[in-house]
Amino acid sequence: MLENIKSRLEANSRLLEEALSEYYKQADKDCVLLNEAQRYGALGGGKRIRAFLTLSIAELLGASKESALPYACAIELMHASSLIHDDMPCMDNDDMRRGKPALHKAYGETLALISGDAMMIKAFECILTNEAISNDINAKAALLLAEAAGDGGMLAGQTIDTVGTQEIKDIDTLIKLHVLKTGKLICAAVLLGCLAAGEKTDSERTRAFFTYAQNIGLAFQIVDDILDYYDGERQINSFITFMSVDEAKAYARKITEEGISAVRSYDDGTLEELAIYLTAREY
Ligand code: IPE
Ligand code: IPE
Ligand code: MG
Repeated sequence: MLENIKSRLEANSRLLEEALSEYYKQADKDCVLLNEAQRYGALGGGKRIRAFLTLSIAELLGASKESALPYACAIELMHASSLIHDDMPCMDNDDMRRGKPALHKAYGETLALISGDAMMIKAFECILTNEAISNDINAKAALLLAEAAGDGGMLAGQTIDTVGTQEIKDIDTLIKLHVLKTGKLICAAVLLGCLAAGEKTDSERTRAFFTYAQNIGLAFQIVDDILDYYDGERQINSFITFMSVDEAKAYARKITEEGISAVRSYDDGTLEELAIYLTAREY
């Protein structure tokens, strides 16, 4: 079963690689390095699960992949930009990302900062120039991404995680951190898929997909903490501070199953396979 989802994710990555590189075809001759650095940060790696969610949900709701592809590119650019900034010395200070030197290691800190900014802005450009979708819906999609990524979403989570000087002392606050830092963009990926298919954001189906995204988003982060723990990284703000590895695995499985149940009547098996794959992943 997991072989099927793996090969679908690989095909999805190839599709994204091609679509994203279209946005970087032309470079200003005096600013080639900014184009090069963004290509380095946006292309050549990543599981692309957020894009897969956007495209799969759009398809489940009867839209074509092509119409949702610019939204899928947008969510991946926003995510990739957050990783570039996250690795910088002023944040997590990590040298490697996606199996290669982090962008600030390859191009220097200044270009890492500017490239991350440029990619966030490019994400909105992708949405607002989606010709397959009406301007009204594109505007809704842009607002949705802004809310998920900005100071009420991912960036709020990054602030709590990296600027907070105190270790988190209770699991509810830890969950809140992850809902903001990771969960919001995963929920946005699903909602962008709904919007691309013309689905109302308050419909029963959208609410079901949203519940699924919330659950797999949190499970994703729990698995991330377990993997970091296995890698020997001692992390503050980790689920492993509050529970054993076995308890964390059981918790991730439980919320994954609840997420799968929420979308059972709308799923063709894709969302179930993805959710199981994500709890079983090794990287
Ligand atoms: C890594 O996300 C950062 C977290 C949100 C935990 P992914 O594991 O989805 O990263 P890529 O895109 O596959 O590299
Ligand atoms: C990455 O978070 C950045 C965001 C989720 C916004 P982490 O610091 O938890 O993930 P890794 O370990 O760098 O991939
Ligand atoms: Mg990090």
